[in-house]
Amino acid sequence: MKKIAITMLFAGSTLLMADGAATFAKCAGCHGANGEKAALGKSAIITGQDAAKTVEQLNGYKAGTLDQHGMGAVMKGQVAALDDAAIKEVADYIATLK
Ligand code: HEC
Repeated sequence: MKKIAITMLFAGSTLLMADGAATFAKCAGCHGANGEKAALGKSAIITGQDAAKTVEQLNGYKAGTLDQHGMGAVMKGQVAALDDAAIKEVADYIATLK
């Protein structure tokens, strides 16, 4: 029984990661597969960035209140379709990048 519970726990977290990874696939074009690129030559490198910070930034872009390098509007378009859960998942995924 214990073994089954642990297996399910792993399956659950793998699924969560898969969602974050799937969302990040759309970001990788600009930010790089591991977040290692300055997107459009402007953004900070986001590889492994703290998830709470990423959530805050993505919500800021979504609300249209964050514009750090004059390109906030570009990011607003990227996150417009993401709900809170998707933002959290992609932020958690970015935190795992190396
Ligand atoms: C079309 C290119 C492009 C795509 C696609 C893109 N971004 Fe960005 N991203 C940018 C640019 C440009 C900035 C800098 C915005 C600004 O001026 O504040 C940025 C900034 C950021 C930042 C803040 C980094 C900093 O400079 O502090 C985060 C976090 C981020 N993006 C995450 C994402 C995520 C997550 C996705 C996918 C849902 C994504 N981006 C998709 C271009 C892109």
